[in-house]
Amino acid sequence: MALAEISPIDGGGNCRLALTDEDKLGRDLVVSWMRDLSMDVQIDAIGNVIGTWRVGSGLPVMTGSHIDTVRTGGKYDGNYGVLAGLEVVETLQREGFTPQRPLSVAIFTDEEGARFAPDMLGSLVYVGGLPLEEALDIPAIDGPRLGDELERIGYAGSMPCPGASPHAFVELHIEQGPLLEANGVRIGSVTGVQGISWQEVTIIGQSNHAGTTPMNLRHDPMYVASEIVVFIRNLSRRFGGHQVCTSGKIDVHPNLINVVPAKATLTLDIRNTDNDELKRAEAEVEQFLREIAEREGVTISAKPLARFDPVQFDERVISIVHETATQLGNTAQMMPSGAGHDAQMLARVCPSGMIFVPSVNGISHNAAEHTEAVDLQAGADILLHTMLSLTTATFS
Ligand code: GLV
Ligand code: MN
Ligand code: MN
Repeated sequence: MALAEISPIDGGGNCRLALTDEDKLGRDLVVSWMRDLSMDVQIDAIGNVIGTWRVGSGLPVMTGSHIDTVRTGGKYDGNYGVLAGLEVVETLQREGFTPQRPLSVAIFTDEEGARFAPDMLGSLVYVGGLPLEEALDIPAIDGPRLGDELERIGYAGSMPCPGASPHAFVELHIEQGPLLEANGVRIGSVTGVQGISWQEVTIIGQSNHAGTTPMNLRHDPMYVASEIVVFIRNLSRRFGGHQVCTSGKIDVHPNLINVVPAKATLTLDIRNTDNDELKRAEAEVEQFLREIAEREGVTISAKPLARFDPVQFDERVISIVHETATQLGNTAQMMPSGAGHDAQMLARVCPSGMIFVPSVNGISHNAAEHTEAVDLQAGADILLHTMLSLTTATFS
């Protein structure tokens, strides 16, 4: 709740877009809490903050998530996982329990991708999935270069990227969807993350007078954008299964009541747990863009912003999470994640998994996002015992 006091928005949520002044204030606060726990705080060249409680020996067991939010974010997305990690360290220290390995809590840069695409950017760079120099050059939706914003807020650290692989990684997160609540189940033992495909589509037409231009002579980018939105919605319905499609951002120029627009730029977010289906969806969209450009006499270009294959988490970590949840007296179900998460990047370099707790009414990326305290506590307890189990687990 103290973190949520930084950059609150109407309705109880937060706006801390990555690498803004607000993100800096949030980082400063959480880093001060890491220091209160005598954790060793390291900042890497992409601004990931890794706080480590240096106990035991060997590679650390890592948890963590992000504290950046979308513009209309809630209090829990990401923040919960980071703060629960600190709660684990605080609890073990208070109880005088010394884990066999160091425990790290990470704050990954720009998980949301709402200001700099792609999403999960900091963890992607951490695992070597995107070269640092390329990431630093990514422009924000409001203009500045990522590397310059990192410098500006004082989080361009000296630790090199890619970073050291931990022994194992587990991320605690709110579900951000309706399934746990609907099933009356408290814990999701997350099996993997669906594939994500983001692109920005730019349509250039012919700007003209709204009163004088006959309908059959128009090359209207706004109309074409609308057809694309309808097409992806119908595509999701046709495909069924886990197929979801969203167009969440559109800019129209000159954006005036009596002018047929010159240009429209919209984003497409297409996801599926099945990579073949995701590829089929992408191919259909590409084909449709070609067809409608031809039919309406407009020029369409598509710029890829993010593309991540579906990820399967480590079976051993999934079972540790599931067994820990049930042993602590919770109902639990195995489930894939609909949202992207830093754990999907860490899964490239170490055994990884996730724990979900319910989201009230399945609402997220919304100020109304809420999780009951009893569920937050259960998740943190499971995180603690899962991390301890991971300190003694051998993976070969
Ligand atoms: C990241 O939070 C995403 O799933 O959009
Ligand atoms: Mn998140
Ligand atoms: Mn999010």
